Amino acid sequence: MSMSKPDKKIIEKIKNLREQINYHNYRYYVLDSPQISDAEYDRLFDQLVELEKRYPELITPDSPTQRVGAAPLQEFKTVRHSLPMLSLNKATSDEEFLDFHRRVLELSGVGEKRIKYTVEPKFDGLAVELIYRKGILAVGSTRGDGVVGEDVTQNLKTIKTIPLRLFGKNLPELIEVRGEVIMNKDDFERLNREREKAGEALFANPRNAAAGSVRQLDSKITSSRPLNMFAYGTGRVEGKKLTNHWESIQFLKDLGFKVSQYVELCQNVDQVKAYYHRLAKIRNDLPYEIDGIVIKVNEFALQEKLGELSRSPRWAVAWKFPPQQETTRVKDIIVSVGRTGALTPVAMLEPVRVGGVEVSRATLHNEDEVQKKDVRIGDTVVIQRAGDVIPEVVKVIHSRRTGKEKKFIMPQRCPVCGSRVERPEGEAIHRCTGIACPAQIKENLAHFVSKGAMDMDGLGYKFLEQMVDKKLIKDQADLYFLKKEDVMKMDRMGDKLAENILSAIDKSRRPSLTNLIYALGIRNVGYHLAGVLAKNFKSIDNLARQSVEDLTRVHEIGPIVAQSIYNFFHNPKNLKILEKLKKGGVKFPTEKAEAKKTPLSGKTFVLTGGLDSFTRDEARKIIEDLGGRVSSSVSKNTDFVVVGKDPGSKYDKALKLGVKTINEEEFKKLIGRQ
Ligand code: IVH
Repeated sequence: MSMSKPDKKIIEKIKNLREQINYHNYRYYVLDSPQISDAEYDRLFDQLVELEKRYPELITPDSPTQRVGAAPLQEFKTVRHSLPMLSLNKATSDEEFLDFHRRVLELSGVGEKRIKYTVEPKFDGLAVELIYRKGILAVGSTRGDGVVGEDVTQNLKTIKTIPLRLFGKNLPELIEVRGEVIMNKDDFERLNREREKAGEALFANPRNAAAGSVRQLDSKITSSRPLNMFAYGTGRVEGKKLTNHWESIQFLKDLGFKVSQYVELCQNVDQVKAYYHRLAKIRNDLPYEIDGIVIKVNEFALQEKLGELSRSPRWAVAWKFPPQQETTRVKDIIVSVGRTGALTPVAMLEPVRVGGVEVSRATLHNEDEVQKKDVRIGDTVVIQRAGDVIPEVVKVIHSRRTGKEKKFIMPQRCPVCGSRVERPEGEAIHRCTGIACPAQIKENLAHFVSKGAMDMDGLGYKFLEQMVDKKLIKDQADLYFLKKEDVMKMDRMGDKLAENILSAIDKSRRPSLTNLIYALGIRNVGYHLAGVLAKNFKSIDNLARQSVEDLTRVHEIGPIVAQSIYNFFHNPKNLKILEKLKKGGVKFPTEKAEAKKTPLSGKTFVLTGGLDSFTRDEARKIIEDLGGRVSSSVSKNTDFVVVGKDPGSKYDKALKLGVKTINEEEFKKLIGRQ
């Protein structure tokens, strides 16, 4: 409710403040060259907040005050990309790049001189798409599988290098902008240091940190993370003619996007090669991670002629850099105990920066690997980080041996609980045989509460560790019997935090079947297989009844997985935990609740006019079967109006309200009947 009616002057003032704030935001975040002090910026911002408080009816979604403020979501809606977001073929050497170039020449049928390439860094982050209608950010989504992504609009709005409103006059009616959300290396390290202090799980690399931050249901969390976006291309564009990639990059820059200062237009392959080697040299000095360069045929007409092959364009290639290597010393080799009791030797290193990220441990996988590489305590070794994997030891530099190095011996007793260690025949892994090994319990708990499993927000590793050490929980099910006074026994626990933890536990009492199966931590059953099992067996009770033979009948379930599932449900200890989970109030879902998510799930449709391929009733049934709803009248809550022949007034109403209309063809595509 406004306290008074805004007059023209107020409207003008608000518009003016927004323009100024947007401009200074751009100077600060995109150009890295602020024109006013932070204090002045804050003053402008506060003035706008104040005016919007007085005249809430004047708040628009593109106001700079609206970057944070949306309520947390229950789940992400899906977004179908109007043009698929493709992936890239890879080259790893000069020859492979030249092979690509030869194919381009051959298939395009034009002479060498006509082919120019734009070259740019290959950012190592998360691909997103932003849709701007009339210059205003309408939808932001992740790449997903390239066809369907997740609607992360409110999260992307918190990223300051993403304009909420585009700059300039004569803006295109519609433009889809594609780019990469990244986190700078130093921001990543700071974030991990903070997380370590708080006892939260660490991110493996800046890419995971960026992706994890964008895929938060609560945009306030995203907003607290230092993220950036580089725009590197367009999808659909209406109302502006672009003829080549170079031009579109310049256009994106004019619209207010951050584009890489390293984009170049190369006239021939030698220039491309020189660019590759130049970027390989400076990659470590860049504030963010890049894992190669992307080479794109510049002319759109040629791109179209070349087309695509199985989800990768024939007009572009990613020329990757070799993995980053560094030399350092092994201070010690320790053994870590995982969730399944597996003992992994880990090299503790003299900290060293690899590709700009500090590394202090590297996995040695298993005993055989240590023997094969002959890694000893005190050795100087070459380690490498290849993309997302945990660093590993590549080789020992024998010439640096002094004779004082110590050989590693796999312990015979678990370093955590002291139980006997065994190495089952035919396996490379040693395992702790202890049934109450605290390391296994802690790892199991950490898995149980994680995303994709029971998803209990705010229960960090340190918290679970203390719970186990203080003997407040012995297994996963014990979490559901915790009382506030138990939680209050933890270090640095406050009233509010304890309540949040209990509420996160409570919320997890209604998992999906897939999440529940995954959470159980059955050996060899990851998230994907959990989904396969949920779909095929429809309930935990039914899954528990299957024989090894029954299980192997399922596509994707091999004998080893089948045996682990069988063993899991025939271990009395696990059955006891299942019973206890039920007693603790966890609802074991059955198939009905496990409706498959489709692009129609939760969407409201209105049908108007005649369809060629279906009667009204058939169309209604299809929509409902796919999780949508059919309503008889159009409102602003309608998601789609399906417009057939001779539509009625519902069509006019949809246009008036700006509700999305689709024709029969588009409808058929949406329901997958084409
Ligand atoms: S262009 C066909 N340009 O690489 C066009 N992609 O493997 C495909 N990426 O999912 C995208 N930097 O996340 C393009 N300068 C760049 C890029 C880039 C990073 C990522 C992007 C995409 C993946 C494709």
